[in-house]
Amino acid sequence: MSTSSSATPVAHKRLEGKVAIITGGASGIGESTVRLFVQHGAKVLIADIQDDLGNSLCQELNSPETITYVHCDVTSDADVKNIVDLAIARYGKLDIMFCNAGIGGLSELRIAATDNEDFKRVLDVNVFGAFLGAKHAARVMIPTQKGSIVFTSSVASVCCGDIGYAYVASKHALVGLTKNLCVELGKHGIRVNCISPFAVATPALRSYMGMIEKDEVEEVISSAANLKGVTLEAQDIAQAVLYLVSEESKYVSGINLVVDGGYSTKNPMITNAIKSLFS
Ligand SMILES: NC(=O)c1ccc[n+]([C@@H]2O[C@H](COP(=O)([O-])OP(=O)(O)OC[C@H]3O[C@@H](n4cnc5c(N)ncnc54)[C@H](O)[C@@H]3O)[C@@H](O)[C@H]2O)c1
Repeated sequence: MSTSSSATPVAHKRLEGKVAIITGGASGIGESTVRLFVQHGAKVLIADIQDDLGNSLCQELNSPETITYVHCDVTSDADVKNIVDLAIARYGKLDIMFCNAGIGGLSELRIAATDNEDFKRVLDVNVFGAFLGAKHAARVMIPTQKGSIVFTSSVASVCCGDIGYAYVASKHALVGLTKNLCVELGKHGIRVNCISPFAVATPALRSYMGMIEKDEVEEVISSAANLKGVTLEAQDIAQAVLYLVSEESKYVSGINLVVDGGYSTKNPMITNAIKSLFS
């Protein structure tokens, strides 16, 4: 994949002059979004806690005027305030806040066995962290009467059953945050949306599934997917986020963009039960 911002002709750069913060930008979906935003001419601040990964991504992209890594724990008000203030100090504005950092938590599915501390931790990172990102972004976007905020929710916001309680609750909460914020911030010209990916073989999912090999994980995902013949990759989610923050979606606000190839639309239970009668 090309990482050079000059690889995209200027006329096709959809974020030229825009300033963006991407939380969880050191890995997975966030990292792909960092690369794509930079290609499209944005100035990007990466907020993450994996300092080595964040710094090496900056070094690889090799454009100190364009890309900055900042250690930022999204559950810390001071850290989130700091990176938003840094964007203003360095570039004079913040156009895009992509609240993407998230954790899966433990894989326990039974409520009686769900660990209380793990539940609180997942809600802290996935919901409180996103709330802080939106709160500080709104603080600096309102005076300029424009901006775009996007949260990473999940297919777990529309399709439940085989995912832990904390994760499902947290991803539903982000849809609620999106809707309430879209109503409050609309009068200030600020759009707020969320994106809900199906499974992507990122480091987080690979470790959650206890599988290291990307190909192996993608094979499992593809076998469960509704849309066959293609594999969902982090870049595909980045492209959908690019749409949500660019001029192409200038009147889109308050939506949950589900990028799941139709997975959540399908319910094969009756068909499977009938088939099992004859097998
Ligand atoms: N991979 C999937 O299948 C999938 C599907 C749906 C939704 N998501 C969501 O996508 C988002 C990105 O996940 P990913 O799969 O790319 O995982 P990832 O682990 O590759 O990336 C997540 C990043 O968030 C960072 N992070 C975690 N806690 C943080 C904190 N307290 N402060 C700052 N940064 C923190 C991590 O260090 C990591 O770099 C998450 O919100 C996840 O829930 C992922």
